[in-house]
Amino acid sequence: MTGVVPTDPGRLGQVAGPVTGPVTGPVTGPVTGQVAGNDHTTIVVYGLGPDMTDHLDWVTAHRDGLRAGLAEHGAVLIRDLPADLDLFDRIVRVVGGEPLRYTERSTPRTSVTESIYTSTEYPADQPLPMHNENSYSDTWPGHLFFFCDTAAATGGATPIANSRAVFRAIPEGVRERFAAGVVYARAFREGLGLSWQESFQTDDPAEVEDYCARHGIAYEWTEEGLRTRHHRPAHQTEPLTGEQVWFNQANLFHVTSLDEEVREALLMLYGEADLPRNAYLADGSSIAPADLAAVKAAYDETSYAFPWREGDLMIINNMLCAHGREPYTGARRILVAMTA
Ligand SMILES: [Fe+2]
Repeated sequence: MTGVVPTDPGRLGQVAGPVTGPVTGPVTGPVTGQVAGNDHTTIVVYGLGPDMTDHLDWVTAHRDGLRAGLAEHGAVLIRDLPADLDLFDRIVRVVGGEPLRYTERSTPRTSVTESIYTSTEYPADQPLPMHNENSYSDTWPGHLFFFCDTAAATGGATPIANSRAVFRAIPEGVRERFAAGVVYARAFREGLGLSWQESFQTDDPAEVEDYCARHGIAYEWTEEGLRTRHHRPAHQTEPLTGEQVWFNQANLFHVTSLDEEVREALLMLYGEADLPRNAYLADGSSIAPADLAAVKAAYDETSYAFPWREGDLMIINNMLCAHGREPYTGARRILVAMTA
C-alpha cells in the first residue's frame, strides 16, 4: 500500500494510517510525496518526472516539507534528478546547510569535490553492515545525501532502517548488556586497512595526539603504527522525537563482521590487539556473538531496501535512520555528502 502525502509542509508531519509499500515509478502531475517502506521503516518519495527543468527551485520551494519528512520518517527520496555535481552540491546546501568534511574516517572513500565523496569503497561481493554514520565518534553528521550517479547491474541497494524500530526490535536483555556503551578499538599499520594518516587526515603525529586528547580517545604508538581505544554510548536520545535510537557500530567494528577467512588470517598474523577494528562492551569484555546476531536480526527485521535508479537522491536523518549496502555486480557510483 502506498499513502499519498500532501506537499504542504505543515501537514507532512500528520500522515497517518498504513504507510507500507514499494517505491513506485515517477509521479505524474503535481509532485507529491508518497510514503514507501514496511511496518518499521518508511521513506517519503518524490518523483520529479523527466520534464522538470529547474530542480533547484523545486527543492528550495519544498525545503520545509523535505525537512519535515526527514524529521518524521528519517528518509526522503527525490527521483529524476540530472547527474550534475554542482546541482547536487546546491541541493545539499539548501536542504542541509554547509557540507561537512569526513573526519575520523573508518572507511576508504575518494573525494570528488571538497565536500562530495564516493560512498564507502568496500568489496562489491560483500554486504556493508547497517550503521549510523560516525556513531562510533563523539561528532556525527545530522543528514546524509546519497546520489545515484551509476546504478549497479545487479544489487547494490542502500538499505535503510529506522533506528527507533531497531532499538525496539533488539531484545531487552541484549540492550541491557550494551547499556554502559561500546569500546571501539582500532589498530593502524602500513598496508592494512586505513592508515592513521588517512583516518585522521594528517601526517603529523602531534595532530593525531591532539585530536585524541580532545575527543577522549586513548592512543598508543606502536612499531607498526598506532592503536586507539575509546568508549561511546550504545544508544542515544534523538532530539527531535525524544525517542531512543540504536546508535553504535559494534556490529560493524566487531571482528565477526569480517569474512571468516580474513578474520582467521588477521588473528593469526597480528593477534586480537592489532586487529584493524574491533568492539567490546564498556568494561572491556567480549561481546557475545549471540548478542551481535540479535542486533543483526533487528536490522534484518526492520530494514527496507529499494533498487537505485540513476538520478535518485536519498536524504536521511542520520540519527533516525541507519544505512548499509547490499552486494552488487557491475559498476556502481553513489556520491555522498554530509551536513549537520
Ligand atoms: Fe555509511
